[in-house]
Amino acid sequence: MNLLTATVDLFNRKVLRRHKDRWNYQYNLGRWESLGDIHELSRFSVIAGYAQFLKPNGKILEIGAGEGYLQQRFDKSKYSLYYSTDVSDVAINNGKKHEDDKTKYLVADMNTYVPDQKFDLIIINEAIYYGSSVDKVLTRFNPFLAENGLFIVSINGDERNAEWHQMMENSKFPKLDGTKVTTSRNTFYITVLQKI
Ligand SMILES: C[S@@+](CC[C@H](N)C(=O)[O-])C[C@H]1O[C@@H](n2cnc3c(N)ncnc32)[C@H](O)[C@@H]1O
Repeated sequence: MNLLTATVDLFNRKVLRRHKDRWNYQYNLGRWESLGDIHELSRFSVIAGYAQFLKPNGKILEIGAGEGYLQQRFDKSKYSLYYSTDVSDVAINNGKKHEDDKTKYLVADMNTYVPDQKFDLIIINEAIYYGSSVDKVLTRFNPFLAENGLFIVSINGDERNAEWHQMMENSKFPKLDGTKVTTSRNTFYITVLQKI
């Protein structure tokens, strides 16, 4: 990698990483469609399994949901409300065909979004990296968890995420459970944490 390529790469990762236009550009190119294929199924199935077991008929908020593949893996009879939210309006528009009276797709930036109600479960699946830190994101959304509410957070095993794993390890939020899912693409560390 030459200096120019490395600088552009660094700029894209560190400066534009939260930027809506960058995500819209990528979603318009269909760059994230592979998230809907079989190779991501085990990750989504574990998260949906935890959700349906821990909060049957619960109200669920998902942050950084992309086109909503996780919601689309749920048995709709197992939740009472599901908000799929993402900063990219292209991704959210692509998911909107899955809306019904209890399933909503909303454009929302996790760093400014103020939910209109409380949820039993808040899921941050491969998106916590776009907040400032694990505990800052969880602290921001903690007031929007109902009593005994839970977070589910997935952080992938890419070596660039070492600092995020460290933050998860040191989080002040009590951990209820956690597991590791290895797919043909990556390893994902999925943690269930309690409201404080
Ligand atoms: C790696 S994708 C993960 C998508 C999906 N959760 C999944 O696991 O298949 C990261 C997602 O985070 C979203 N994102 C990035 N910055 C965000 C922000 N500030 N607020 C909300 N979503 C954001 C992106 O638009 C993208 O859809």
